[in-house]
Amino acid sequence: MIIHSANFVKSSENISQCPKTFLPEFAFIGRSNVGKSSIVNMLAEQQKLAKISSQPGKTRTINHFIINDQWYLVDLPGYGYAKVSSEKREKWMKDVNNYLVNRETLVCLFVLIDSRIMPQKIDLEFMEMAGLSKIPIARVFTKTDKLSGHELQKTIKDYDKLMLEKWEELPVTFITSALKKMGRMEILDFIEQSINNWKITS
Ligand code: GTP
Ligand code: MG
Repeated sequence: MIIHSANFVKSSENISQCPKTFLPEFAFIGRSNVGKSSIVNMLAEQQKLAKISSQPGKTRTINHFIINDQWYLVDLPGYGYAKVSSEKREKWMKDVNNYLVNRETLVCLFVLIDSRIMPQKIDLEFMEMAGLSKIPIARVFTKTDKLSGHELQKTIKDYDKLMLEKWEELPVTFITSALKKMGRMEILDFIEQSINNWKITS
């Protein structure tokens, strides 16, 4: 898929504020600092579309970007960020979960996983929750420029092993580096195909 246009639409605190159109959308979630906003920018080929920060907890709202005037990329706040009050964090997570479960136009949720570290309980639990809630997910391993091919394969194998204890089938998986623009075409092709299937079934 070729990106002709990518524009910020709005930031929403909860589902009731999200755009009231019926265009398909693709959201990005994962722990704070995993690289969600960077992936959104990589896909859109615009370095300043979503705000990136080395400080975890940068994205605090549900951010819609419209692509080619046809579909949305949605940048979400991270989970597991310890530096805000637990009350605030709970409110974010409640609002985000409500969005994930009830947003009828959400075609796929990309769950980002930091490829540099061993499998994290919080990521496994989040994906399990999404699976149980019937939210379609894909896995995206991020920051793969930081490790060797061998190390990356080990991380993925470790995740697969743990997930296959609970999952019948592993989700679609992408290997990415926003720094090296790796995985861009693969994700965009998947999005294009998903939009076509979504149109047929909806
Ligand atoms: P929050 O909004 O705070 O939850 O973070 P986020 O998940 O949106 O992460 P963000 O895209 O802001 O990136 C966090 C940090 O990781 C920034 O310093 C990025 O430059 C860095 N980063 C993101 N992607 C990559 C990557 O592919 N490779 C490397 N080496 N660094 C990356
Ligand atoms: Mg962000």
